[in-house]
Amino acid sequence: MNRFLRLLPVMLLLTGTSCRTRIPEPECLLPRPTSIEHQRGALPLNFPLRLSIEAPDTTAATLRHFVLASGLPVEPASRPDDTPSRSAADERPALHLHLENNAALPASEEGYRLTITRRGIALRSRGEAGLFYGIQTLLQLHDRYGKRLPALEITDAPRFSYRGLHLDVSRHFFDAAFVKKQLRMMATLKLNRLHWHLTDGAGWRVAIDRYPELTGQAAWRHGATWQAWRDGGGRYCRREDPQAAGGYYTKAEIRDVVAFADSLHITIIPEIEFPAHSEEVLAVYPALSCSGEPYTTGDFCIGNEATFEFLENVLTEILELFPSTMIHIGGDEASKTAWATCPKCRARMQREGLTSTDELQSYAIRRIGRFLAEHGRRMIGWDEILDGGLAPDAVVMSWRGEEGGRKAAAAGHDVVMTPGSHCYLDGYQDNPTREPQAFSGYLPLRKVYSYDPAPTAMPGREHILGVQANLWTEYIPTPEQAEYMLYPRLFALSEVAWSTPEGKEYADFHRRALWLTERARAAGYRTFDLMHEEGERRESLTPIDHLARGCRVDYAAPWSERYAAGGAGALTDGVRGSWSYGTCWQGFLECDVDVTLDLGEVRPLREVTADFIQWYSAWIWLPRRVEISVSDDGRQFRTLATLGNDYPEEAERPAYRAFGWQGSDHGRYIRYRALHNGRPGGWLFTDEIVVH
Ligand code: ACM
Ligand code: ZN
Repeated sequence: MNRFLRLLPVMLLLTGTSCRTRIPEPECLLPRPTSIEHQRGALPLNFPLRLSIEAPDTTAATLRHFVLASGLPVEPASRPDDTPSRSAADERPALHLHLENNAALPASEEGYRLTITRRGIALRSRGEAGLFYGIQTLLQLHDRYGKRLPALEITDAPRFSYRGLHLDVSRHFFDAAFVKKQLRMMATLKLNRLHWHLTDGAGWRVAIDRYPELTGQAAWRHGATWQAWRDGGGRYCRREDPQAAGGYYTKAEIRDVVAFADSLHITIIPEIEFPAHSEEVLAVYPALSCSGEPYTTGDFCIGNEATFEFLENVLTEILELFPSTMIHIGGDEASKTAWATCPKCRARMQREGLTSTDELQSYAIRRIGRFLAEHGRRMIGWDEILDGGLAPDAVVMSWRGEEGGRKAAAAGHDVVMTPGSHCYLDGYQDNPTREPQAFSGYLPLRKVYSYDPAPTAMPGREHILGVQANLWTEYIPTPEQAEYMLYPRLFALSEVAWSTPEGKEYADFHRRALWLTERARAAGYRTFDLMHEEGERRESLTPIDHLARGCRVDYAAPWSERYAAGGAGALTDGVRGSWSYGTCWQGFLECDVDVTLDLGEVRPLREVTADFIQWYSAWIWLPRRVEISVSDDGRQFRTLATLGNDYPEEAERPAYRAFGWQGSDHGRYIRYRALHNGRPGGWLFTDEIVVH
């Protein structure tokens, strides 16, 4: 190639102000906009932009205030009414914000069109929220390009109207400043719902005037961490106790956070757990439980009218604090055990013609739903609110997989998808043996990003209001750890919630996530280090070839159908498990792994080995002992190895361990026995018996 031609790209890059120069495509926008049209040229920002706003007065005032405080290089227009001026002094480039009902704009009030030319910036929307999101996009461009914005036109609108983050402040308390910091990041990500999990068995976190013991006692405990508190018996103490740990929000703090969220177009949905997850309430108001005794259950007594009086009084104060239409009433994981024998609950069932405790739960939920409707609000609850029948206007939050949400949507209920498989950010995001302790499962960035809450073929998909990431905090004791678990995975969720699935590409997202992670770190967020993500378990990435691959396996005890990993061939298919015990690991419940492999003929042997997992929170343990033996005829076996296990049973950190023999021998049949540790409900998980 001619020397000059080879130099041309470099010269074009260096002559940055040439109008023929194309600034690189924006790889900074996250969530990805619906469309970007790149133009030639750029807008220099050597001087502040003149701000002009065409919108009704109150909207204009709010927007002006926001833009002037945003860090964008703008100054207010000289004319008091902020309309565009034609005076010579106003020839400087402007940032025009137009609120207009223009059919050419995205239909959604959250949508916008942002046009950057060499002469200025125009941002148009049918709604104030759309202008707000357009400003968020502009802020990301400004952060990326500084004093030279690329000329372009972005047209953008959200895929879903509900784009949420859930935050559990019961297991560990996070103060109002922390919540506001996360609200700021949510706005950057164009998320618009904070589901605030204010109450749970590990602590009550909101002041309720009528029930002072909720914050006098149920908000305080011995044990700064959830684990220490749980291991110490899960008791509460008075606030005055010198060892008291915990906290709660005053009403003034709640109002302040709600107003701050509102200024960022975020609605806060409070959750008051009912009828279960209420150990803390029943510890201080035990008369509301079936037994009447504290520390016996987390379920309210549904037969007792005082339960409903309590909840309605609490909700009355909650409704004063939170203007959100949706109010979350929990509904998850009621044990229902005490209800079956409690005289009051049984009497209620008889009076109301209810035939099961599921129907009793449904009665309680519907009753609270009616109360909320009478006050102009709408009930939302975890998918258990479907059990026993659901009021038609209730919104279902699908967490136990997608099944509940899919059923509810097909039946015409509005649904928010938040399945544990893709949306629970308390799981490990990288190698579980190296990461700080987390709750369960392996949920890397890629998997969050892969989620589609409403695939094209899904019946009732128009009822999917949106999607939410959940941050449960049992294993998240500090604000730094909470941010570490949130980011960058919340970036992926925001793109799932906002952007269309067309054009979805992980590599492209990953580049933008790297950029935003770096920017978030610079802004003081303590994120996961995406640059050094280790990724999926190496063994799972390529199939392994070995002597027993494809061989027949006889099982003395069966695998569990819940974790079949493909069934009879799973242990000799060459496929190794991932970090997630749910992927390609075969599970054995309350029994040994006792399998015999037939190699088809006597073969020389150098190695027989298999990997196992310990994952305490999932009740999965390494084998107590492993015995490996070999036979030429399938009847007479010789022991090759007996192996012990020194990894402590109480160790909560996940471990992946190989139990194997190496040496020189021969044989046709290999018996591999891994002994279960005898814990009721305990599992063994293995993925492949590898023979060389
Ligand atoms: C839940 O995770 N118990 C909703
Ligand atoms: Zn009862």
